[in-house]
Amino acid sequence: MASRGSILLTGGAGFIGSHVAVEVAAAGWTPVLLDNFCTSERSVVARVGEVVGAPVRCIEADIRDAQAMRAAFGSTPMHAVIHLAGLKAVGESVEKPELYHDNNVRGTEVLLAAMDEFGVRRMVFSSSCTVYGMPQRLPIDESHPLGAINPYGQTKLDIERMLDRWADACIDRHVCSLRYFNPVGAHASALIGESPLGIPNNLMPFVVKVARGELPELGVFGGDWPTHDGTGVRDYIHVVDLARGHVVALEQLDSMHHDCINLGTGAGLSVLDVVHAFERVNGVKVPYAIGPRRAGDAAAAYADASLAEQRLGWRARLGLDDMVRDAWAFATRSAC
Ligand SMILES: NC(=O)c1ccc[n+]([C@@H]2O[C@H](COP(=O)([O-])OP(=O)(O)OC[C@H]3O[C@@H](n4cnc5c(N)ncnc54)[C@H](O)[C@@H]3O)[C@@H](O)[C@H]2O)c1
Repeated sequence: MASRGSILLTGGAGFIGSHVAVEVAAAGWTPVLLDNFCTSERSVVARVGEVVGAPVRCIEADIRDAQAMRAAFGSTPMHAVIHLAGLKAVGESVEKPELYHDNNVRGTEVLLAAMDEFGVRRMVFSSSCTVYGMPQRLPIDESHPLGAINPYGQTKLDIERMLDRWADACIDRHVCSLRYFNPVGAHASALIGESPLGIPNNLMPFVVKVARGELPELGVFGGDWPTHDGTGVRDYIHVVDLARGHVVALEQLDSMHHDCINLGTGAGLSVLDVVHAFERVNGVKVPYAIGPRRAGDAAAAYADASLAEQRLGWRARLGLDDMVRDAWAFATRSAC
């Protein structure tokens, strides 16, 4: 089948980008990855190719490098950009706010300038539910007040505003900011998944490391939240569902100006829901210890996912058992 055109995926070798690349290819587009591998491994590119059934091109470049970005757009006409490149560790962003601004915000400016130079007018952007700050009501819909509670979240807000201005400046620019809730899991092939360097920041990779005996136990931040079992509640979404959301957004970009859309399941799951499902589905133990609450955390955060359904015809299909099964299958396969 002839390709429908090339799609540039910045951060395409990362956890989410690699899964998006697979779905983009399945929809008949040619994914072109662009990554500087600051938080991912080069081997991911070949594994994406294995899943797709054909080699996938990857440009090794930093989005902040204007010359490299010009070379990337000059090498192949791009129908659209899916912009996933970014640093995402909240704790690190508090220690290094300038680095986060430079990488995420200035990087996006450089990317947009190169797109302008080559007449590329369409973008799907990896935003985050962090733009809502502390939840003021649940479920969180797209009209929930915005506000950053850490430098990472501030970069996502700054980029959404930059994309507002970019779209406003020219009638035929089309942007969709997808506000992800909590992506977890891995591709069913177990060839690609989440493998953060060092001590993980997010729940699922932490659970995986504890189950593998690499960390002694899971520290749970608070057992006295006003939730069904006292532990924090979040909206975990399978990364393959999330990746499919990018393709439907891409297909409908031309009817958008700058739309901001939640990608979540709409269901809240607690830390212990995840731990118990992980133990039951995978037949492994996940020792945990409940400690004090962590400053700045919310009891619960989950999406109103109805706009994605109305606007994109998208809804999550995979459930918690799929998420924990696929996360474990990837972790145990990559350990071989
Ligand atoms: N995973 C989550 O929980 C989550 C939630 C909401 C939003 N997001 C956003 O989704 C995007 C992808 O996240 P992920 O979970 O796949 O993270 P990831 O760290 O696995 O992937 C990010 C990729 O971007 C690359 N990268 C970073 N800075 C770059 C630069 N300057 N130039 C080129 N490449 C660069 C990294 O090497 C990596 O491959 C990020 O923008 C993140 O902020 C992630």
